[in-house]
Order: sequence, then C-alpha cells, then structure tokens
Amino acid sequence: MDFPKDFIWGTATSSYQIEGETPEAGRGDCIWGHFARTPGKVVNGETGAVACDHYYRYKEDVALLKSLGVNAYRFSVSWPRVLPLGLGATNAAGLDFYSRLVDELLANGITPYLTLYHWDLPWSLQELGGWTNKDMPAWFAEYTGLMTRTLGDRVKHWITINEPWCVAHLGHLWGVHAPGLRDPKLAYMAAHQTHLAHGAAMRVIRETVPGAQAGITLNLTPAYPASDDPQDVLAAQYDDGFSNRWFLDPVFKGKYPADMVELLGEVLDGIDLDEVSAAAAPQDFLGVNFYSRGVKKWNPDAPFRNEGVKQEGAPHTAMGWEVYPQALEELMLRLHREYVGDLPILITENGAAYIDPEPSNGVVEDPQRAEYYRLHLDALSRAIAQGAPVKGYFAWSLMDNYEWAEGYAKRFGIVHVDFETQQRTLKRSALQYRDLIAQGKA
Ligand code: FCB
Repeated sequence: MDFPKDFIWGTATSSYQIEGETPEAGRGDCIWGHFARTPGKVVNGETGAVACDHYYRYKEDVALLKSLGVNAYRFSVSWPRVLPLGLGATNAAGLDFYSRLVDELLANGITPYLTLYHWDLPWSLQELGGWTNKDMPAWFAEYTGLMTRTLGDRVKHWITINEPWCVAHLGHLWGVHAPGLRDPKLAYMAAHQTHLAHGAAMRVIRETVPGAQAGITLNLTPAYPASDDPQDVLAAQYDDGFSNRWFLDPVFKGKYPADMVELLGEVLDGIDLDEVSAAAAPQDFLGVNFYSRGVKKWNPDAPFRNEGVKQEGAPHTAMGWEVYPQALEELMLRLHREYVGDLPILITENGAAYIDPEPSNGVVEDPQRAEYYRLHLDALSRAIAQGAPVKGYFAWSLMDNYEWAEGYAKRFGIVHVDFETQQRTLKRSALQYRDLIAQGKA
C-alpha cells in the first residue's frame, strides 16, 4: 500500500456516542436521549447517558490517539451542550469543554476536524419541528457562528453535517433513528433543510474563520445491479439516486437529480426545489463515509422501484453489511470523474463491527476487523494510484461506543471499551493501524 507522505491519518467519533449526557454539566436534552428512552426504540433500551464517559476522560482518550500516532481526530460538537435550548443562552461549561479538548489535541500534535452536526439535535428544537422547520438553516447558522467564534482561532477544519441521508431517511422515513418519524414528505423536507443548513453554515465558516477548510460528510453506498437485465440496471440507478445523488447533486451541481424528482412526484410538494442551489457553496473537501455497497434488483412495487439482494456466501460484518472493498475503489474514481474533479476527498469514516473476544494479555484479538481495514486501505491506495484525490482517512471508530439503535452491542472501535469499568484496551486492529501509519510516515 502506498500513501502520500502528507496523508491525513485519523480516527473518528461523535458526541452523543461517546461523551455521556452529563446534565450536571449543563447540557440540554437531545433527540437521541429522548428517542432512546422511548420503549422499544433501541436494543435493550440502552441510552447514551454514560457512553464512554468521554466528557470526563477526554485527556486519557487524547493520550490514546497520541499512542496510535494519528495526526488528525474527527469529533463532533453536541449542539445542546453549548446551547442547551438550541438557541439563545449558551452553556459556558460546554464551550469550555470543547476548548480544552481542542487545546489538548493541539498540544499533542493532532489536528482537530470538527463536525457541527452528528445527529444530537437539541430536544427543544425538535419540539418546533426540528429538521422539518423552515427556520432550521437560520438556527444552524446561529449555532455555527457560536462555534466558529469560540474555536475558529484554533480549529481550521470544519464539517457541517454528518450523513444527511441518515437524518432524512433513518430519522424521518423509516423512524429507526431519532426523531423516529415515518413520513416521506417530512423525510424529503428534512433532507432539503439539511442541504440549506449546510450552505448557510459554509457561508458563516467562510466569514468567520480565516483559512478554514470546510465541507460536508456524506455516507455513500454504491449501487450495483443484480444482473445485466436493463430493469435491474434501472433499479440500481434509482437506488443510486436515493442513496447518493440526492445528496451529491445539490452540493456539487446546485440541483436535484431529475429522474428522482420525477419518481418522488408529490412527495416533494411544498418544497421549493430551486432553493437547493444554496447548497452548492464552494467546498474545500468532500467527506465520505463508506461501509458497504448495495446489490439491487427491479421491484415495481417498492417505493424506489428496487430491492436489495443479499450476497449469500460473501463476507458480512456483524451489522449484516457486505464486505466489498472494491466498491470503495470504484466510488473514489467515480467521484473524481463525475463530481469532485481534483477537490480533495477525505474518508471521514470507514470501519466494521464484529463480535470481539474479551481483552486478554492486554489486547483484544480482532482479526476480522484488522482484515477489513487492510482490504479497504488497499482499495483506497489503488484508487489514489489511479488519480483519485483522496487526502485522508479516519477510522470509525477510535473506540467502542453507543451505536445508535443497536445500543452497545455493536462494537466498531479499534480500541475496546469495558462499559462497566470504562477501561480502554487496544485491539489488534489498532496496533495494525499504528504500524501502518508509522510506515506511511516513514
Ligand atoms: C455512520 C455514523 C456513525 C456510526 C457508523 C457505524 O452512519 O455516522 O455515527 O454509527 O455509521
């Protein structure tokens, strides 16, 4: 594997998944706390009340990062920690926490990559309709300004929104994530508002942070037809529209994909589609979260005219996601050709959940996760060799954490967390990553 000398090597986390809710430190409630406490929504009724207790243990976690040799760390700010009601009064302890975290990172030679929104919307904004309220872009701009004024002197890398596809579809169409709504019209209104909020935040970042590098993070899932039957090819095209183009096209072309607008029809009533040109604010990079691919066949009765075909016999992770690294290579080349040109791509998440053994002799043996990382980094290096402008990679995740509706059962960390004692133990995949970074830098 060959990576450029100046490659960005990092790990990623998000606020609700690691920090703990800490109401005693003035943090307001968020939609995830509310959702998790609703019976039947999360496996075992688990919540992020304590998670990895990172709010209190951040120094230990930065020391872990340092021991891995990463030069970057992607984390998110909890909006209700800094603005407990979403707007108006700030929580000084919350702002101070992020300021201390950033200082600790910088003191250890680790560049902070700050995500403004990774799903923990203040509950009081949800009571006003959350992402379906047309004031969301203005609210998000206000919150963005607070963070850029507080940290913009030290944080130069900004990600606006993590995975708007999930906000819209998991949160508002299928209801399996907070806020747990099931309504196609609300889902597409929410998606629209994330596009506008991204554009608004980009403008605030540009105005307030000299030298900022800013962009969005999209989760992209390449769609492959189950056969070369033209109907299956069309099924994959629609799934690509649903999973990828609905989010890529606004950001890079300032418009929605026409085939999908036609397919969605009256679902889009009430949305001013032309407004989405505001999402096409010039970016400094595209963040891509990659986990797997979809294989699709035609189904005229399905809302998006396609259904998934499970690849029997292929390797799958504990999430049931197929391991198919070639899709990462092909995705990078496609983005280079069709969307980004030479604009840098950052892999802002990639990783896998497996059932791990308990720590033994000070390490957790996780050969499948280690293999997943090897295969995907190899695919990435092939894409780079063919000209894809990939400049960095963030392993998801630094440590086992609260995996949303799956609770604590699904472990994505390269560092093991014992949730009873909060003990952190490196997994074999972390040691492998550390060695690879050391070689890459050599
Ligand atoms: C992504 C999320 C991240 C994590 C991984 C497994 O969709 O951004 O928080 O849950 O999946």
